[in-house]
Amino acid sequence: MTFLFNSDARRGAVFADAFARELPDVPFTMDTATVDPDAVRYLISWTVPDNLGRYRNLEILFSIGAGVDQFRLDAVPANVKIVRMIEGGIVRMMQEYVTLAVLALHRNLPGYLAQQRAGEWADIEQPQAGSRRLGVLGLGQLGQAVLDRLKPFGFPLAGWSRSPRQIEGVTCHHGEPGLNEMLAASDILICLLPLTEETRGFLDADLFAKLPKGAALVHTGRGPQLDHEALVAALDSGHLSAAMIDVTDPEPLPADHPFWSHQKIILTPHVASVTQPASAAQAVVENIRRHRAGLDPIGLVDRSRGY
Ligand code: NDP
Ligand code: OXD
Repeated sequence: MTFLFNSDARRGAVFADAFARELPDVPFTMDTATVDPDAVRYLISWTVPDNLGRYRNLEILFSIGAGVDQFRLDAVPANVKIVRMIEGGIVRMMQEYVTLAVLALHRNLPGYLAQQRAGEWADIEQPQAGSRRLGVLGLGQLGQAVLDRLKPFGFPLAGWSRSPRQIEGVTCHHGEPGLNEMLAASDILICLLPLTEETRGFLDADLFAKLPKGAALVHTGRGPQLDHEALVAALDSGHLSAAMIDVTDPEPLPADHPFWSHQKIILTPHVASVTQPASAAQAVVENIRRHRAGLDPIGLVDRSRGY
């Protein structure tokens, strides 16, 4: 019952140590060329390998990241469990990134950077946190963790999900009417939705029009959720004030893309959160233990929902 690690060797070495220590009866390998395909029960990868079919006894396909949109779910046999990464490192880094972005937008950082470049010394009107309303799209592990970390600042907090949720200190919305209600009351909108057929192109001109004038966007979901042209148009018209963008489509952006130089955009190269090998290995070890005990792994993907 071999565990096959199909990703970078640096993180693989940390996984190898964890398996030797915690699951010595599960052989661990990173060598796809020499592994006996029939022995592979567990595989971790960022994408679904083209030759997945050779692992006829595969039981679990682990994603090395929190998202599984990069997996072609229909290429994975129905009996194989697909498990996304739920580990403390990803959560902590996303909390840091979104806090950084929210504070940067709240305190007008894009405006002050533009003024610095223009040699201008001037105040920009500064609302207090209590009147800057935050709306989070997606109330999963990351959306909830981010809201939790933002609580002490005193921003009014809201969130939106597919199914109804109750979170202390957060106005929770769901479904279409709930979405419109939250958008109308979001001065900073944060996207932490998984990429599915329903969320592709979600951040578009219609959605931006539903935000209050002067609202700002933080996008840390997935690139194909954002209509780039619509964002530039909304920023250029002044309807939106600024955006901090971590994910784009494509990644990286072409050299002549307007996001590189737009004064109202802060762009980062998909670094909001990165899987941390030690905590990720521990999470995978725990999930294999659960699986062997007949329990569902934590982070089991519901194929019908796509996340
Ligand atoms: P979860 O699966 O835990 O949560 C997803 C949330 O989105 C849930 O609340 C879900 O609703 C909601 N949702 C999904 N589809 C819809 C829909 N159609 N309408 C309304 N709500 C919907 O995901 P995570 O929080 O772990 O991660 C979210 C995403 O963050 C990842 O899929 C990935 O794309 C992105 N990410 C980005 C990183 C980066 O570095 N930029 C790093 C890590 C993740 P419900 O609760 O009802 O199911
Ligand atoms: C992830 C990511 O999904 O890095 O973990 O985006």
